[in-house]
Amino acid sequence: MGEGRPGREIVKKSTAALHVGLEIGQELPFAAGPVFASAYHLSGDPAQATYAYARSSNPSWASLEEVLGALEGGRARVFPSGMAAIAAVLTSLLEPGDRLVLPSDGYSITRQFAHTYLDRWGVDVVEIPTAGADLSVLPEGIDLLWLETPSNPMLDLCDIEVLATRAHDEGALVVVDNTTATPYLQSPLELGADVSVSSDTKAVNGHSDVLMGHVASRCDEILEGVALWRTLNGAIPGPMETWLVHRGLMTMGVRVDRQVATAGRVAELLAEHPAVTAVRYPGLVGDPSYALARRQMSAPGFLVGFTFEDAAAAERFLSEASLVYDATSFGGIHTTAERRARWGTDEVPEGFIRMSVGLEDPADLLADISLALDRVSG
Ligand SMILES: Cc1ncc(COP(=O)(O)O)c(C=O)c1O
Repeated sequence: MGEGRPGREIVKKSTAALHVGLEIGQELPFAAGPVFASAYHLSGDPAQATYAYARSSNPSWASLEEVLGALEGGRARVFPSGMAAIAAVLTSLLEPGDRLVLPSDGYSITRQFAHTYLDRWGVDVVEIPTAGADLSVLPEGIDLLWLETPSNPMLDLCDIEVLATRAHDEGALVVVDNTTATPYLQSPLELGADVSVSSDTKAVNGHSDVLMGHVASRCDEILEGVALWRTLNGAIPGPMETWLVHRGLMTMGVRVDRQVATAGRVAELLAEHPAVTAVRYPGLVGDPSYALARRQMSAPGFLVGFTFEDAAAAERFLSEASLVYDATSFGGIHTTAERRARWGTDEVPEGFIRMSVGLEDPADLLADISLALDRVSG
């Protein structure tokens, strides 16, 4: 997991999030502030310098990358958004003629990127759904298998270890979008994936005020490829945003623990209410992903999916629930929810809501949700 003081191994991710990536020394602050620089003092051979020009390197990135790498069980590179991280991986790993397999039920903008650019660059993009049975047969000639588990928005899971083994037998690389699970609850690299990508806009930062993303891997060539893409492409994380994400990340353990605990109770409440026709939560006994979630994740997450009979009932719920902000995105300290069909990009029922459970006191939140559900029933 990394070291705190020299020679002292850190075992738990919540401790690593607090201690890794900080410079410890007499009279230094616990966490250094953002380093604002475009240039650094530099004489002599720039090839010997760690910090030569700030499009390629920055000390604030280095601190955040160190802690994210420790949490992912590899090494990390940060990007100015989750999509920037995803685009860096897809662009640096794929070549014309390659075959990419993407989840048909995963984050819609990843699919949009693939169909807008990769198709045009001669990559064959194949979509298959996340749910296990359909992934058991991977298409021939696959070069890159992209997984997203739990998938956003329907929260299906797939078995990273089994699929990584199968894909590696085919000679393919495996990337996992770890955003919904978080590096705190799931370790794709340990399960055999070659790359883990994440939108740190979500629970890693946790405060709904910054966009950020990262790529993690144990393979130097892959990391060099995405870092080169970042340098040449020129879209880089700002030092202030990087520092804010690092500050948010330090409390990820305690935040996510609380969010998961409340999410379990919210899922149970929803499952018992007559206004709700279906609930998806990988921690709910009886959910199709329950057994796999127990094996693959250290806890089932803070996202809950549930369905009302139609769009009007779902919208009524959103307007009645006063502690649930109607917003897209997820993973923040405030509970948020949205009727996903309003975007028209996902194959979801009209009455389906994805809720991200936040840090409100569980009693207040459950009472608020319960009242809103009763009002929907009418
Ligand atoms: C699963 C998943 N991956 C990637 C992204 C993209 O992240 P960002 O909005 O930080 O670019 C999102 C955003 O919602 C997401 O849900």
